[in-house]
Amino acid sequence: MDINAEIGKLDWSHEPKGLYEPIGYTLAAGGKRVRPRLAILAAQLFGGKVEDVLPAALALEVFHNFTLLHDDVMDKATVRRGRPTVHVKWNENTAILSGDQMMIEAYKLLSQVPEKKLAKTLRLFNKMATEICEGQQYDVDFESRDDVTIPEYMEMIRLKTSVLLATALQIGAYIGYANDEQQKKIYEYGIHVGLAFQIQDDMLDCYGDEATFGKAIGGDIAENKKTYLWLTAAAKGAKDELAMRIESREERFKRVMAVYKRLRVKAAAQKEIAKQTDAALACLEDLPKNEYTKQLRDLARKLAERSK
Ligand code: IPE
Ligand code: IPE
Ligand code: MG
Ligand code: MG
Ligand code: MG
Repeated sequence: MDINAEIGKLDWSHEPKGLYEPIGYTLAAGGKRVRPRLAILAAQLFGGKVEDVLPAALALEVFHNFTLLHDDVMDKATVRRGRPTVHVKWNENTAILSGDQMMIEAYKLLSQVPEKKLAKTLRLFNKMATEICEGQQYDVDFESRDDVTIPEYMEMIRLKTSVLLATALQIGAYIGYANDEQQKKIYEYGIHVGLAFQIQDDMLDCYGDEATFGKAIGGDIAENKKTYLWLTAAAKGAKDELAMRIESREERFKRVMAVYKRLRVKAAAQKEIAKQTDAALACLEDLPKNEYTKQLRDLARKLAERSK
């Protein structure tokens, strides 16, 4: 299944252009398409049909892209997928309204799932959507706190990032006729993959290559985000240093990165990524073994060491 081709079939050439062009711009910019891939793989793993899960897979990707428009406003991010973010290329009002419309488009796609499967799919999707908002609020709340704990951080990233991956998998599995227990297992796999995925995202925000990653490096430090790196350094006694007031973004980045280096926080983050990836792989042991489980195993490993 060529997910990009399916996304390319969606038509955004409507009026008013100010509303629809940014949607086409965002969806045409690429991205890894991890969420629809997970939904489709999960359906295939249990013998389900790709065509049955496709509307939900597309809904999940459009929904994800919607969250990015609003997230980039909230995070004051200027670059995504190697291009200016929507609020920079247009303005904040555009990012808000085109984002809203993308959410509506996601639900239109979702409404096309096979009728017998619609009620539960909608319930799973709505639960996930609310949890993302909860995670995003914690993420913002944490910017102005310096007493955030690692367990609080793990819960925040479970909400803002993991539940979308996990729900993609569960919806795929459910549409593909997995039983409740199997749905639960694959959801759990997704939670662990997502935790590793977000910690790796935190890492790339500091250590990534801008051209490859497609986002401006140093955004999390500039916004005082509580990342795994920040919290590990704080736990090692660097809280005062991290709280220093430095106006220049470059200078602040340099100083914080020096603290990270001194306290070897990168190694700690890598260890947690490996731990979560192992936990994800362990979940697959309880599922049928076939070529799709193998693909999920490979994907978990690849995402843990991704550079974009
Ligand atoms: C970005 O998601 C948001 C996070 C959860 C870190 P992706 O890294 O999946 O972004 P794209 O879709 O590939 O651009
Ligand atoms: C991702 O958090 C969570 C959502 C977008 C919902 P980030 O804010 O770290 O994602 P990026 O780094 O901007 O893609
Ligand atoms: Mg962001
Ligand atoms: Mg964010
Ligand atoms: Mg990030």
